[in-house]
Amino acid sequence: MPTPLTPMPVSAAVSNLEVAQIQGDILIGLQKLVQRFVFFEIANVDSFKSILRQQVSGGLVTTTQVAKDREQILSQSSGQNLSLIGVNIGFSNTGMQKLIPGADLGDSSFGAGAKLRAIAMTSTPDPTGAGPDTQPINDPSVEGVPSTWDAKFLGNIDGVFIITGGSGSDLGMQTQALKSAFGTSWLPLDPEDGQVRPGSNKGHEHFGWLDGISQPAVNGLVVSPFPGQDVVEAGHFVFGYPKVAAGASFALPQPWMKNGSFMVFRKLQQLVPEFTTFINDSATASGVAPELLGARMVGRWKSGAPVSTNPTADNAPVGDDSAQNNNFDFATDQSGQSCPFSAHIRKTNPRSDLSKPQLDARRVIRQGIPYGPEVDPATESTTTISNRGLLFVCYQTSILSQFEFLQGSWANNPDFICPIAKGANHADGTAITTGIDPIIGQPVDPTVGRTPDSAIPTPPGGVLTMPTTLFIKPLGGGYFFMPSISALANELTT
Ligand code: HEM
Repeated sequence: MPTPLTPMPVSAAVSNLEVAQIQGDILIGLQKLVQRFVFFEIANVDSFKSILRQQVSGGLVTTTQVAKDREQILSQSSGQNLSLIGVNIGFSNTGMQKLIPGADLGDSSFGAGAKLRAIAMTSTPDPTGAGPDTQPINDPSVEGVPSTWDAKFLGNIDGVFIITGGSGSDLGMQTQALKSAFGTSWLPLDPEDGQVRPGSNKGHEHFGWLDGISQPAVNGLVVSPFPGQDVVEAGHFVFGYPKVAAGASFALPQPWMKNGSFMVFRKLQQLVPEFTTFINDSATASGVAPELLGARMVGRWKSGAPVSTNPTADNAPVGDDSAQNNNFDFATDQSGQSCPFSAHIRKTNPRSDLSKPQLDARRVIRQGIPYGPEVDPATESTTTISNRGLLFVCYQTSILSQFEFLQGSWANNPDFICPIAKGANHADGTAITTGIDPIIGQPVDPTVGRTPDSAIPTPPGGVLTMPTTLFIKPLGGGYFFMPSISALANELTT
């Protein structure tokens, strides 16, 4: 997740994109130690519009500003002294309908909304993962309603303000400012707060892994990509720019969508003590180090070092080095010897296993943040007591072809990694069955659990089998459109 170290070597000064129009969280990410999502309903459309236009839209942080902030942070001796406040805004389909009745944003998933799209669908994903867009998200449900979601996400949400800062008081102050500005024209709901983890865990998600390492380099924004960082056309993340994916439409669904983006929000609870206990017990039973099993589930060691280049032991300097931590692919690893086909990063970005157009069409820009307290070793050695996890956020121009495809057709699809793997065998002759992603995969029937992998031969010897239990519980979600600054000041509010 973005810390001041987010891998976007950018310079707004030389950008070919209209960076002053694009909200700051989309391409680079608002710089943050803490973050609040203020979900809201619009109560009085006319006054909400006029307050947004006159008092709020001019104060939103743009990509131009974020690029400058980032340079400032990197030039400081310590990124800890972050005192920047950022505010961005997005609207769900119900919110967009209040602002522009009848608005069609050209994305059926956005139109249906996250709640409807979250539950299991009857369609079967294409086993190659390259084919038609059929994406069951598979959140557990009862009678067509997600059954693990917090009540707030089951009710109506028209929009969300994203507030970032350096401390809780920044969030409080900015929330109060919004409440004073909007008065009775809106109804703010209970916010969701996240924070970068403390001390040496900074930048790591709650299972313990360094996150936010691999992001696409946005063409026109990123000047010199890090080694191994893919340059992807901006049209996959922000409307109004080219895409390279075969068959992708370049047309703007609405003229005012230019420089806007779709944001997917997911509140994902992480069962950390259960995850850690599984890894310890299973690795011990297989006679290997727990760190190795964990690394093969993610595809990286906790430091961020890729298992592809470091198959047997962690290598912290590599994990920490932007010049090395993305400089790998899977071309010479077609039996999953170094990085299993089901590893989280191979499921969600199979790199050389697919062609560049196939990959680019699925890339997203991730901007999440952990939430909840640290694990208390005294009371939570095996079972979760406090609620913690990831407030997952990603940006794209097609929710259907990007987020939903990643989750449904790749992570949740036990047959996916790639056409190369279909019918292929491991080196020991056993068939390759990848199983679902051991971190985020969700099977159609939650009572079935995870489809186990074939045992994967694991250097330096022995075999490891991925878990059958799930360690992430979806607690809510939302699909939002993040408009340009100009659309917020004009078409959406007049
Ligand atoms: C609590 C839930 C999650 C956890 C703990 C988690 C953890 C991680 C970690 C540790 C990495 C490696 C660091 C990096 O490459 O940046 C990663 C990468 C990634 N994750 Fe997740 N993740 C979660 C949810 C998701 C979801 C819901 C998606 C999308 C459906 C997703 C998509 C990705 C992608 C695209 C990458 C980059 C892969 C690459 O380019 O190599 N993650 N995640």
